Amino acid sequence: MSLIYLDNSATSFPKAPGVERAVSDALFHAGTSGRASYEEAITGSKILYNCRKNIARLLGVKNSAQIIFTSGATESLNTVLKGFLKNGMGVLTSGAEHNSVMRVLSFLESDRQIEVYRFANSLDGSADLKSYADYLRKSPALVVLCHSSNVTGAIYPLKEMIESAHKAGALVCIDGAQSTGHEEIDIPMLEADFFCFSGHKGLLGPAGTGGFYIREGLEIQTLIHGGTGSLSEEEYQPEILPDKYESGTQNIHGLAGLAESTTFLLKTGIAKIQKKEQKLSWLLIEGLNSIEGIIVVGPTDREKRNSVVSFIHKDREISDLAEALDDEGIAQRMGLHCTPSAHKTLGTFNRGGTIRFSPGYFNTEDEIHKTISTIRKIIYG
Ligand code: ALA
Repeated sequence: MSLIYLDNSATSFPKAPGVERAVSDALFHAGTSGRASYEEAITGSKILYNCRKNIARLLGVKNSAQIIFTSGATESLNTVLKGFLKNGMGVLTSGAEHNSVMRVLSFLESDRQIEVYRFANSLDGSADLKSYADYLRKSPALVVLCHSSNVTGAIYPLKEMIESAHKAGALVCIDGAQSTGHEEIDIPMLEADFFCFSGHKGLLGPAGTGGFYIREGLEIQTLIHGGTGSLSEEEYQPEILPDKYESGTQNIHGLAGLAESTTFLLKTGIAKIQKKEQKLSWLLIEGLNSIEGIIVVGPTDREKRNSVVSFIHKDREISDLAEALDDEGIAQRMGLHCTPSAHKTLGTFNRGGTIRFSPGYFNTEDEIHKTISTIRKIIYG
């Protein structure tokens, strides 16, 4: 039985062509980066340089020094939120954020007495813009928004939301964990102040990679201090980018894989990837909607969602269905997806969450048809 992998929101599989070789080459040939001039060290430096350039290009950013590497979106969000939010500040976020945002904010609520406001989401998981506008009147210092939901696939209208946040005097941090590599992103056009991304999801690279963008001129406290290979005579953290936020030896081997996967994405074009993923997810939605008893959550408007498809059955337990899908070799993620509030809005919290399919670029229409016929078989016997 061959695996049908539909859990790309958790981590992409397979990775982009060439990633395995790039990681292996780096393990054999790359030394440290930015700290020495022997050949292997130059190879290490080039890996970081190429990877940073690729990501900057994918995000529409001209100066690649504004792209900071971290171990992933979670570390990026921790860096931005803990680095920016000071005692007593207000922060506005949605009612559908992942625990990588919510747990940091809850910690800061008790540690720094920050004030956390949450605007409402509509029943399909999209942003309630009226509630958003109402909360902006509280003049938060920062707005934190997911670009697209890891539960419903709902895409937030970022351009509009960032513009109104700026008018209200707030900076904006975007959690792009679920959108990067799936949707065309142009940070200067969006005018986001911070944009956090993961390397192992839509960017099709290895786990332990990712980073964030910081707008020129903005400064936050770094989460990690230490050696950068630059200004070593100083015992203070350098202020230059990206060094200020990148202490210690970077994940050269993982970033070699990410440099390769982002080269693949640039060659393929995100528009093509987005088109294919939308087609696959729409096939899934149509197939699921044709099965009696299945309820697909999330926006019904195709343009307002990405490839994430979550559903429940009106009578059957999601755990039973997920187990049956696992047995049939269909990889999905069941439960609350580390985003309990989204499920509270959708009314799926007390059902233990949803079953989530998240197709990726390497899935085929045939796999989607097989998935639908397998679900029919599981439900109807
Ligand atoms: N945030 C990831 C997911 O939704 C881990 O599965």
